[in-house]
Amino acid sequence: MAKLVSHFERTTGFRFYALLFCLVLSFSIWPSLKTLLPPTSSVKSQAFDTKREVLLCQKLSGEGDYCEIEGDIRIQPNTSTVFVVLTHKDDDDEIMLNSWTVKPYVRGIATNVKNWTIKTVSHTDNMLINCTVNHNNPAVLFSAGGNYGNYYHSFSDLLSPLYMTSYSFQQDVDFLASDYHDWWINKFRSVLSKLSRHPVVDIDNESGQVHCYRKMVVGLKFYSDLIVDEDATRVSIHGFRQLLRDSYSLKRKRSMESGRTSPRLMIVSRKRTRVLLNEDEIVRVAKGIGFKVILAKEEEAANMSRFTHIVNSCDVIMGIHGAGLANLLFLPDKAVVIQLVPFGQLSYIARNYFSAPVSKMKLRYLEYEVSTEESSLSKTYPADDPVLKDPPSIHMKGWEMIDSVYLQNQNITVDVGRFKDTLVKAMNLLVHH
Ligand SMILES: *[C@@H]1O[C@H](CO)[C@@H](O)[C@H](O)[C@H]1NC(C)=O
Ligand SMILES: *[C@@H]1O[C@H](CO)[C@@H](O)[C@H](O)[C@H]1NC(C)=O
Ligand SMILES: *[C@@H]1O[C@H](CO)[C@@H](O)[C@H](O)[C@H]1NC(C)=O
Ligand SMILES: *[C@@H]1O[C@H](CO)[C@@H](O)[C@H](O)[C@H]1NC(C)=O
Ligand SMILES: *[C@@H]1O[C@H](CO)[C@@H](O)[C@H](O)[C@H]1NC(C)=O
Ligand SMILES: *[C@@H]1O[C@H](CO)[C@@H](O)[C@H](O)[C@H]1NC(C)=O
Repeated sequence: MAKLVSHFERTTGFRFYALLFCLVLSFSIWPSLKTLLPPTSSVKSQAFDTKREVLLCQKLSGEGDYCEIEGDIRIQPNTSTVFVVLTHKDDDDEIMLNSWTVKPYVRGIATNVKNWTIKTVSHTDNMLINCTVNHNNPAVLFSAGGNYGNYYHSFSDLLSPLYMTSYSFQQDVDFLASDYHDWWINKFRSVLSKLSRHPVVDIDNESGQVHCYRKMVVGLKFYSDLIVDEDATRVSIHGFRQLLRDSYSLKRKRSMESGRTSPRLMIVSRKRTRVLLNEDEIVRVAKGIGFKVILAKEEEAANMSRFTHIVNSCDVIMGIHGAGLANLLFLPDKAVVIQLVPFGQLSYIARNYFSAPVSKMKLRYLEYEVSTEESSLSKTYPADDPVLKDPPSIHMKGWEMIDSVYLQNQNITVDVGRFKDTLVKAMNLLVHH
């Protein structure tokens, strides 16, 4: 009879599952682990060895879980469980049975994410669930919840990780979305359908079915916001931008092509928080320098197909730090991104979200840091208040404080005399390359 081997004694039960592991390790060791798996690019043509199960799990840099599984995989949606059926030779009497709780979302701290269980079971188990649908193609199971409601995070937490995780499957992959929301799937359908030719499955709502696979991924690859690790994934952020261009049939690959003389500047206009109060003045100054100005209102982005075309027609995008700047993904190469960083020593946030990723994107990046005088905080607080005089002391109080003081309750009136330099720089970058 099978003897149970605990997770910590796994080396003893290791003999006939030569490749069965569950490792919770930092992402940096991925290259050495990867050698244990067939190269992802050739997975499609790889004949599956039924004697072998693979179960590799890692915590990625955002503290989300990521697992690669091969073998006899059976999914039970109503209990959010992925069963991996272990086979073994007759003369082997040890078997590694275990279960792991995983969060298939790139950020461990995200809420609205259902936990899944990965459970190994013996093929002799009487309770083994039977398949109702057998799939020959692989599957990617992920939570489409978390920060799905935020435009930036739709790209950083879901779409670019999906691209990194699934691109090598060449569209022949099932997306099993847990925490499924119709509107999100619909909003990004053009992109999702470039990654998978099969409809996205609302896996939590498949109670009647037991979907079975030979190969699947639970969770999504992630390194840092909008950063693609080219060595580990063999895809690039340029590939992701190309995918987005293909998804929306965007024509312009390079800015300032075909002898354009008046570059187009898009101002991402925010209406509720971090509002640029003197947009009119900026428009006037920008026109004076020679830009054609496009004011982009948040609500226009609702029609992705139309809006992405407008963004792609521009050569510069500028805006106060916020989700709308994620539209820079649709800019042609060599375009310029101007991020206005609100007052409050927020440069590390500005860097993580935009400047670091943009620096890898064949785009040019300029930053404008808002001074005390330009911030509405200078009217809200007395001049000697720590909010104005000592931002680090506010930072010490934690993220909620930073968010509420500097991000949710600050508007900006840019000193156009000072800001003009940044616009001139952008113009020079475009005109002189
Ligand atoms: C889940 O569905 C299976 C049928 O596929 C059923 O036998 C089982 O009782 C259900 N479990 C729960 C917890 O609902
Ligand atoms: C999900 O799993 C984590 C870690 O195992 C646990 O702390 C958390 O409470 C679980 N969440 C839910 C909703 O069960
Ligand atoms: C699965 O199918 C086998 C063979 O058809 C049957 O004997 C077994 O009872 C089924 N298991 C369940 C849990 O329904
Ligand atoms: C589950 O799917 C059915 C149709 O397949 C649909 O009518 C129903 O609204 C879905 N339920 C949920 C909770 O999404
Ligand atoms: C979005 O814009 C396109 C092109 O302008 C238009 O054809 C389409 O009907 C719009 N879609 C919606 C849902 O309004
Ligand atoms: C910022 O401007 C918006 C729009 O004018 C306004 O609704 C909001 O109350 C302002 N916030 C602050 C902190 O001044």
